[in-house]
Amino acid sequence: MLSKKMQKMLNDQINMELYSAYIYWSISAYFHSMNLDGFARWMRLQGQEEMTHAAKIFDHVLERDGTVTLAQVKGPPTSWKSPLAACQAALKHEQMNSKRFNTLMDAALSEKDHASSTFLQWFVDEQVEEEAQTSALVENVRMVKDSGGALFMLDRELGARQLGPEEGA
Ligand code: FEO
Repeated sequence: MLSKKMQKMLNDQINMELYSAYIYWSISAYFHSMNLDGFARWMRLQGQEEMTHAAKIFDHVLERDGTVTLAQVKGPPTSWKSPLAACQAALKHEQMNSKRFNTLMDAALSEKDHASSTFLQWFVDEQVEEEAQTSALVENVRMVKDSGGALFMLDRELGARQLGPEEGA
């Protein structure tokens, strides 16, 4: 059984994962409007992953006899001043989300809620990967600078991204 505190934090995190999906899809739409379809695909798939994160937490709350309370998801930004700024926004968001999972893990450990801490470990590890890949993306876009040719090559590379097995590839 989940404590009320853990239940509230996990429900808030479901909302944050859905908001993460909104941000990525909004960035995807932004790239689509710039004809950067590879970037758009990469962000769209990232948003899809965020939906699976929300679903995982949803399932955990229910499995623990908790109550899922879905709240309104706020609207994300809809435009950025450059591809670099959009990728930097994604990285900043992931860094914030990593902090949230650390706080969630701290709460689970302090309550000796071992089922939640084992569950949350997957997210702590996932955040390391997500921050690393988004940080690599930011660096790649930074290196491209104003070279249209290099941006085109990077766009093609990003367009090759596939979903992992958990996301339904
Ligand atoms: Fe679900 Fe990108 O964190």
